[in-house]
Amino acid sequence: MASSTLICETQPWKDLKSHVEDIKKTHLRELLSDTDRCKSMVVDFDGITLDYSRQRATPGTMDKLYNLAEAAHLKQKIDRMFNGEHINSTENRSVLHVALRAPRDAVIQSDGKNVVPDVWNVLDKIKDFSERIRNGSWVGATGKALTDVISVGIGGSFLGPLFVHTALQTDPEASKCATGRQLRFLANVDPIDVARNIAGLKPETTLVVVVSKTFTTAETMLNARTLRAWISKELGPSAVAKHMVAVSTNLTLVEKFGIDPNNAFAFWDWVGGRYSVCSAVGVLPLSLQYGFTVVEKFLKGASSIDQHFYSAPFEKNLPVLLGMLSVWNVSFFGYPARAILPYSQALEKFAPHIQQVSMESNGKGVSIDGKPLPFETGEIDFGEPGTNGQHSFYQLIHQGRVIPCDFIGVVKSQQPVYLEGEVVNNHDELMSNFFAQPDALAYGKTPEELQKENVLQHLVPHKTFSGNRPSLSLLLSSLDAYKIGQLLAIYEHRVAVQGFIWGINSFDQWGVELGKSLATQVRKQLHASRVKGEPVEGFNFSTTTMLTKYLK
Ligand code: F6P
Repeated sequence: MASSTLICETQPWKDLKSHVEDIKKTHLRELLSDTDRCKSMVVDFDGITLDYSRQRATPGTMDKLYNLAEAAHLKQKIDRMFNGEHINSTENRSVLHVALRAPRDAVIQSDGKNVVPDVWNVLDKIKDFSERIRNGSWVGATGKALTDVISVGIGGSFLGPLFVHTALQTDPEASKCATGRQLRFLANVDPIDVARNIAGLKPETTLVVVVSKTFTTAETMLNARTLRAWISKELGPSAVAKHMVAVSTNLTLVEKFGIDPNNAFAFWDWVGGRYSVCSAVGVLPLSLQYGFTVVEKFLKGASSIDQHFYSAPFEKNLPVLLGMLSVWNVSFFGYPARAILPYSQALEKFAPHIQQVSMESNGKGVSIDGKPLPFETGEIDFGEPGTNGQHSFYQLIHQGRVIPCDFIGVVKSQQPVYLEGEVVNNHDELMSNFFAQPDALAYGKTPEELQKENVLQHLVPHKTFSGNRPSLSLLLSSLDAYKIGQLLAIYEHRVAVQGFIWGINSFDQWGVELGKSLATQVRKQLHASRVKGEPVEGFNFSTTTMLTKYLK
């Protein structure tokens, strides 16, 4: 395929377009009765089992998808990513989050330089700093240990670390390392979020970590100034040096803000914000809370998937399979959304994180060469842990719109409960639902089945389930730091696979800029009206009316 050819112009895409019409004639009930087909759709890797037999696909579909991957030069694109080529072409940058979790002796080049030693310099610095905070050898302005951390950041500088923190909180190994410590996240510029974050904390025992790749994000910088004022008011301006540190690629602005550059933890422009949880963005706050050893285990889990993604054949490659199936669902069935449904409360912040990773990466309108796309990319990602979601939005998934679902389950609970006299324990109860839901979606319930159950005739249409609704299941052997790292990397690479096949740039995010610049105009207006009493002007009728009401 010539680089300017759109993927939808290739023969494999056209083959899939006609193939989907055949598949539409086959109900999942029928597909699931073919045991050989189902066997071919279960893949195991390093404690993770993927079962995609409830996708509306046959082995023939998979072959056609492999052809599509070839037409998209998927393997070459993966290699180019690992080789540090500037695949983020609109920002002229490498995309090397895999280097953040590479072993110390790995060699990964960006612009002719092995970046792994730089990564490990920062990791070593974090290890040393977090140990000093945790063992009380670094103390605050009044000589007290810093037991509480507020991490200030938004988007990619917030969602990934929050997901991992939430997942580790109840892991027995991690939680025993966090005794007596608190980690909070301040993201929203809404003053309510500030109030909630500082509630019950004292500046003298609090360390603020300002996390911003650019160190210019309006919300983060205002929140950082607000917490700087909170510290200074109580402890005096000189306390800032002891109570505030930073994570950024922009060390000049960190220093300008008043944070000692020695207390800044660097990362690099080849780390995209939403792919930055394995940089100091996540590693610093998480090491402060759980200790570096736990976080290193998380990095090793992610690295295991990086190696697998790089080297496993496509038929056994978890991120590749997941990515291809998402393309199948979005581009050929036209399903616009995807539900991420972990049957684990510890994963409650997984869907919000993947929502950014996926939607900021793949919600694009043009190809990497800037050609308008005649097909939709990306999907609407959302999700909640089971079984909570079952009592909320699953009605729509079962009888309303078709939304491909990812069911994520764990064999061994982080916190098992065994009630005396109950054979099916609490985790079994949770997992009963994990196993039942995919079949309910796939098989549904027919009017004939309902009639056999003597359901009242007028209720039959209401109680009928069409079924034929695709899902896939991921079963993790446990949920420790290593597994959390694996899960993260599987989804990061899946999103990249989708973008590589669609032929878009999954690593820029120009779509967030327009809103930001319009907010700047409004901010200027608010300033001019408040300081000089200037009237609202330069906006349309609607905005002028609302702004005028707000200013009154
Ligand atoms: O507005 C989107 C975004 O640019 C994200 O991509 C990024 O993760 C977030 O803002 C925060 O940016 P920064 O880390 O530079 O503060």
